[in-house]
Amino acid sequence: MCSLFKDILGSSESLFREKSDVPLDFSFIPKLVPYREKEQRAVAACIKPLFSEKTGRHCFIYGQPGVGKTVACRHLLREIQEETDDIAPFYINCWKHNTTYKIVIEICDLMGFKFVQNKKTEELFRWIKQNLNKKSVVFALDESDKLEDLDFLYMILEEIERKAIVLITNYKDWINEVEERIKSRLMPEMIEFKPYSHEETKGILKQRMEFAFQPNVWENNAFDIIAKKAADMEDIRTGLYLMKQAGLAAEDKSSRKITLEHAKLALDKIKDFSIKNKDELAADEQLILDLVKNNSGKRIGDFFRLYQESGGNLVYKSFQRKIGKLEKNRFIAVEKTAGGDDGNTTIIRSISEKKLTDF
Ligand SMILES: Nc1ncnc2c1ncn2[C@@H]1O[C@H](COP(=O)(O)OP(=O)(O)O)[C@@H](O)[C@H]1O
Ligand SMILES: [Mg+2]
Repeated sequence: MCSLFKDILGSSESLFREKSDVPLDFSFIPKLVPYREKEQRAVAACIKPLFSEKTGRHCFIYGQPGVGKTVACRHLLREIQEETDDIAPFYINCWKHNTTYKIVIEICDLMGFKFVQNKKTEELFRWIKQNLNKKSVVFALDESDKLEDLDFLYMILEEIERKAIVLITNYKDWINEVEERIKSRLMPEMIEFKPYSHEETKGILKQRMEFAFQPNVWENNAFDIIAKKAADMEDIRTGLYLMKQAGLAAEDKSSRKITLEHAKLALDKIKDFSIKNKDELAADEQLILDLVKNNSGKRIGDFFRLYQESGGNLVYKSFQRKIGKLEKNRFIAVEKTAGGDDGNTTIIRSISEKKLTDF
């Protein structure tokens, strides 16, 4: 074969390992979660009484996005699951399941209970309770600030006998807004997840690199600028995203190595997310953002009305474009839902962190 073709990667060859890029998925749970042992121990201490059939304590985990809160908890729950059948661990993402009814449905589903149709929340909870009270239970409620009502929390506090509740959120202040009857029953231990240092960020990304890529495909300087970016942004997710994009860029160019050039192409991709500071927004965008903050969860049409009522002059098309821009920059989340009373709707929610949390 002539050297020209020898140099060009065959299309069947990949820089990624066999199972492609799964380890770069944000939801991948590695075997080890380095640098979070202290935090995991603190959570485990709350759960420990369950192992001797006593009731557990509760904890409140907080820290900015991308610092390993979710992965540390899921990893711990997995260990419990592997350790014993006497403790039932439930992980609930409250962004997805944001009402008591939705959580109850999710738990029924996780417990393999199929006959949920036409049943009321109370009825389903009664079933859950009957079946769970034979065991000890860990409830991890992630993104708990997204809950629209806290009845579920109250119900498990009151009615599940042996339990430990783990609340996880990016917002430390959220706990102060929780109504007193719940707070006084929870009395959670506060566990802070601080951002990783530069070295720690590098260590975590290196571990993921070894899972996700063929050996020796990364040039050091390419990895280093990506790790630095992730460390500067204090967000591991950014690092994972950049590693994947750099790998794809290298494959695109049929390169056998991931070089600085490919890493830079990846960095270019997140330029779109670069409005980090609210102050950089134009007045119109700022107005829309404030409206979304105060009315999170309404439909786009409602927002347009509010926007006009507040003195906004843009026509609907331009308004939509602004919404698109704010979404792209992760100031707001836009959710399209099919069906409902009036066909398709677009729901807009606020997000206060301006990071690449979940693309
Ligand atoms: N200590 C760690 N070890 C391995 N992976 C980590 C670690 N911390 C974070 N990650 C990875 O970084 C990403 C973001 O972490 P995550 O737990 O989702 O953050 P948070 O819940 O705090 O927003 C996930 O893909 C996660 O697997
Ligand atoms: Mg999380």
